[in-house]
Amino acid sequence: MLSNKPSFFNALSPPSDSSLQDLSQGLLAPGAHCSPKYFYNALGSTLFDAITHLPEYYLTRTEAAIFGDHAEAIHGQISAQATWLDLGAGSCEKAARLFERTPPGLYVAVDISLTYLTDTLERLQREHPQVPMMGVGMDFSSALTFPPSLHAQLLARPVFAFYPGSSLGNFDPVQALGFLQRVATVCNAAKPGSGLLIGIDLVKDTAVLERAYADDLGVTAAFNLNVLRHMNTLLGADFDVRDWQHLARFSVKESRIEMHLQARREVTVSWSGHQRVFQKNETIHTENSYKWTVEKFSKLLRSAGFAQTQHWTDQQQQYAVFWAS
Ligand code: AVI
Repeated sequence: MLSNKPSFFNALSPPSDSSLQDLSQGLLAPGAHCSPKYFYNALGSTLFDAITHLPEYYLTRTEAAIFGDHAEAIHGQISAQATWLDLGAGSCEKAARLFERTPPGLYVAVDISLTYLTDTLERLQREHPQVPMMGVGMDFSSALTFPPSLHAQLLARPVFAFYPGSSLGNFDPVQALGFLQRVATVCNAAKPGSGLLIGIDLVKDTAVLERAYADDLGVTAAFNLNVLRHMNTLLGADFDVRDWQHLARFSVKESRIEMHLQARREVTVSWSGHQRVFQKNETIHTENSYKWTVEKFSKLLRSAGFAQTQHWTDQQQQYAVFWAS
């Protein structure tokens, strides 16, 4: 099949009253919290992109170096003419860099924002007119279910699932297992030669980890604080970002960076029929970013249903790229 126009599927449900209710309940809970998915409005996505360029945020450049240093071995795993399932594709840049060398039979970019995907896929299609491309709007944190016609088309070739960036770290271990099981089910149902290539940030020195999430320019602080403005929009709340400060600390026990917003003074916040007084120093827990060891993550992949795993790391063993099939 030759195609020079990407097709698009929307498998997203519109922001429902119940998800806004969850957001509201999280703010009212004794330990206030909100889901990290609310970071990613237009400004939040731009700030995250800026984070990936920071010297303190070693994850992005270390992963890119591993892809470069182990290109031969990594490309050796990708079946020719596979269906590429780019999970959380965003700008599609990371996949596009790989398919210069191993072109896909079908490229399926999956992301929670279909608007963002539309522009990038149309651009990418012009650069690779011979590759059939599809954009799918989907929140794959809860399900990885494609419309039946698309499902059959995806599985007609080996599937190369691609989940770079250590985004799995934002799932807790139970959610991570559930997600990997869904990917393993897709890979096991597709033609032989299927597998998952995934980037994972590793446990390391606490100071290095905490600097990566509390950079000197304050970009990560802005990324974290921006969630308050997003909640003002979504809930009609009256958060004033000047009342809050960014905190990032590594919990050795939980093996995760925890990001919080801490009240600088006693603050009263109101939104759609609710009100909460936050005491000085009280926090809203906004994100966890789990860090894995190679041993624990290999075990997780096997529990999820992948029979074989292998991995590549950088010299300092800061980060790992795993292949699971
Ligand atoms: C998207 N995700 C992998 C990032 C992380 O490192 O957990 C989000 C992030 N939060 C603060 N800085 C970057």
